Amino acid sequence: MHHRPRRNRKSAGVRNLVREVTLSAHDFIYPLFVQEGDENEDIAAMPGCKRWSIAGLVQEAGEAFALGVPAVVLFPAVAENLKNSTADESWNPEGLIPRAVRALKQAYPELVVVTDVALDPYNSDGHDGVVENGAILNDESVEILSKQALCHAEAGADIVSPSDMMDGRVAAIRELLDSKGYEGVSILSCTAKYASAYYGPFRGALDSAPKAGDKKTYQMDYGNVRESVREAIFDEEEGADMIMVKPAGAYLDIIVRLKEVSTLPVAAYQVSGEYLMIKSAAQAGWLDEKAVVLESLTGIKRAGADIILSYFAKDVAAWLK
Ligand code: PBG
Repeated sequence: MHHRPRRNRKSAGVRNLVREVTLSAHDFIYPLFVQEGDENEDIAAMPGCKRWSIAGLVQEAGEAFALGVPAVVLFPAVAENLKNSTADESWNPEGLIPRAVRALKQAYPELVVVTDVALDPYNSDGHDGVVENGAILNDESVEILSKQALCHAEAGADIVSPSDMMDGRVAAIRELLDSKGYEGVSILSCTAKYASAYYGPFRGALDSAPKAGDKKTYQMDYGNVRESVREAIFDEEEGADMIMVKPAGAYLDIIVRLKEVSTLPVAAYQVSGEYLMIKSAAQAGWLDEKAVVLESLTGIKRAGADIILSYFAKDVAAWLK
């Protein structure tokens, strides 16, 4: 026999030598939820995740950072009485996210703080943009999103991450940030964000689901590949520093494609539904959690992701230690 591929699998040592892809704590951005008050509250639909107080957030981010996770991304649970149809609270400099960013940067100046830029947690309609007669207004929304990004930059965010899928938002945010002296703040664009049922648990965690309709006029149709290339070309032209594919596990082909067509770093978001499927099966005793988590995340990296957003980030960093 001329070919015996099994020789390269014959021992742990040989497998270690020939392995192409390995995870590192440095690959991860750790998504964290934050709420007002002193309580750290369990999220029913995302077992193992909490809505943190600002103090709890600083503690949790610090522990992840100590394990080698370089970055966190923040999502706010906003009180219902602060929501309105133009999402004014999204650019309040004394709002929850700016205060959380300042607390994190003060405690851990080297921690990379990423903020999500989108209106849904602040919008009484639960959409990522402003709703008028059932339609999502693009340019009006972009103006508010830009103010939100500026507000996050002023608070000290290292990276702003528009997840709204409005047209032209990357250019508008870049222009406003630059005009105000924040040319050093990066943009991680959710370039290929699909209209996905996998976001369900996240919307439950923040009580941010659309009050009417769905997100299909702005988030992408999951039947499409070439449209993601088009979005990537525009985001690159508009000044994005990094691009993102979201969700990750069911969209590995999109990661492969964007890695081919763009020279920017590619991030992938293993979203709440992906997290919950693994977590709930593991809790029922039906899957080996650690093994499946490492396999799923290695698959995402093997597809080409340079950066992975995952609710498992801290666990993985601890396992890899
Ligand atoms: C808000 C946003 C969502 C997610 C990240 N940012 C929800 C949505 O677009 O409906 C989903 C993340 C997850 O499911 O973990 N624009």
